[in-house]
Amino acid sequence: MNTTPIVRFRELLAQAEQLGIQAHNAFALATTGKELQPAARMVLLKDVDEQGLVFYTNLQSRKGRQLTDNPRASACFWWPQLQRQVRIEGRVEQVSDQEADKYFVSRPRGSQIAAWA
Ligand SMILES: Cc1cc2nc3c(=O)[nH]c(=O)nc-3n(C[C@H](O)[C@H](O)[C@H](O)COP(=O)(O)O)c2cc1C
Repeated sequence: MNTTPIVRFRELLAQAEQLGIQAHNAFALATTGKELQPAARMVLLKDVDEQGLVFYTNLQSRKGRQLTDNPRASACFWWPQLQRQVRIEGRVEQVSDQEADKYFVSRPRGSQIAAWA
């Protein structure tokens, strides 16, 4: 198929949204710190483009500290109605301050989420 993995991913994500799959943008994010013990938790996808996936979290959280120590992570989406899982591995970089600030002011009141992409 003549398409990039990101384009294909966006197609599946759009299908999942159209089907009304609950939390279709939620994914398991696995990180390790210096001790190399993998830790996984759910986060929400906030954007996706050719640069990669964007999610937000508090830099002082466990995952934030682990990503500072080791910026490699793994993501896994599962859309049961599509009978698909998508697994993504790669480097995590902090989004620009401008992008993070934009998200910070738009976030729901009470959220402590900050910035990683
Ligand atoms: C469906 C779902 C979505 C979540 N989305 C986020 C998110 O986008 N960012 C975030 O920091 N935590 C999110 N959380 C909370 C994390 O799973 C986790 O409990 C929290 O961030 C602390 O993780 P840590 O101690 O490994 O850093 C979400 C939890 C659930 C169940």
